[in-house]
Amino acid sequence: MIGPDAGGHFGAYGGRYVPETLMEPLRELEAAYAAALRDESFRRELSTLLRDYVGRPTPLTFAERMSERLGCRVYLKREDLCHTGAHKINNALGQGLLALRMGKRRIVAETGAGQHGVATATVCALLGLECVVYMGTEDMARQAPNVRRMRLLGGDVRGVDSGSRTLKDAINEAMRDWVTNVRTTHYLLGSVLGAHPYPTMVRDFQSVIGVEARAQMQERTGGLPDLLVACVGGGSNAMGLFHAFLDDPVGMVGVEAGGESAQAGRHAARFLPARPPERGAHAPSSFSGVGVLHGTCTYLLQDAAGNVLPTHSIAAGLDYPAVGPEHALLHDQGRVRYTSVSDAEALDAFGVLALSEGLIPALESAHAVAWVVREAAELRGKVILVNLSGRGDKDLGILPDPGGLR
Ligand SMILES: Cc1ncc(COP(=O)(O)O)c(C=O)c1O
Repeated sequence: MIGPDAGGHFGAYGGRYVPETLMEPLRELEAAYAAALRDESFRRELSTLLRDYVGRPTPLTFAERMSERLGCRVYLKREDLCHTGAHKINNALGQGLLALRMGKRRIVAETGAGQHGVATATVCALLGLECVVYMGTEDMARQAPNVRRMRLLGGDVRGVDSGSRTLKDAINEAMRDWVTNVRTTHYLLGSVLGAHPYPTMVRDFQSVIGVEARAQMQERTGGLPDLLVACVGGGSNAMGLFHAFLDDPVGMVGVEAGGESAQAGRHAARFLPARPPERGAHAPSSFSGVGVLHGTCTYLLQDAAGNVLPTHSIAAGLDYPAVGPEHALLHDQGRVRYTSVSDAEALDAFGVLALSEGLIPALESAHAVAWVVREAAELRGKVILVNLSGRGDKDLGILPDPGGLR
């Protein structure tokens, strides 16, 4: 696997910016993870569960009607068909097995859209672990079906009422719990975020997506796609897809949440070019610069004084002010192009997929599809692989009647 340096740095990004009390537990986790990777029985147990429990390999679906309408050839990697309905379980299972090896029988996790929380509660039930999930109360309201699922699975869902009451605040609480209970507890972080080794470890557990998709594309088309497209919240489904293709002549696009506008607080596009405040504007424009959040150094939505900005996205899983540090490096290297689509574009794309393919995507995944729909004129004739990171049952309560293509 292509890795960071020994300190967990991806170029200038990543690293381990945590209180002293967490340094030793993180070193212990790094060592346990390295040992597990070398252990044939760990790898065998994980791949057996991924096959027999999660349902891997997930299929690759050619989106025929959508391709016809758009003038390009769109393939969908069907992570929505994983058990629990999203890619999140690939990582939750890997870390759950690791926690068992480390003798930690209590798990804390954060969740935004609830998919990581559901995956974690599922894995805890499967492996007999205690499960506590922190979730912002704003997210609990908009992703209520997942709150119920977590509770039915035995998860102790704790609402977080501070800050913007979304993912960032849930991570704060989960980290606080972990610091307090670190001897008995594993923090099962859900994206390629946080202090080293999390960004690398989560990417590795998700890289099964790209490994499968690469082989499936070759088998199906005799070659590789021209372009990979994935939505980017923290960035785990995107890294999971991109990683196996990094040495290939394949373009890559990461789609962030453009929300309602480029105004500060109304989006979660960390790579949106920084703009100076407009003259006479009441609210400051968004500013994305390098900073530290939740233990890692990366691109971060912040104001000129370095205060973390609030974010907005219709997709709870994309509603976070920082992005995984490996994405920050891939951005600077120009290897991956990062762009954003708006809430409205994501909703339209949801309608396109529902009406022309019979698929109900998660609103997060609809962002990736939306970019293809918007850029279709530029993509004519191209072979495009889109990561359909999850299914949309959780979003039924916030979706208007779908429009889109008929
Ligand atoms: C279906 C789905 N896709 C994407 C994401 C975004 O996370 P990440 O960028 O880590 O893949 C989430 C987060 O909850 C999700 O539920």
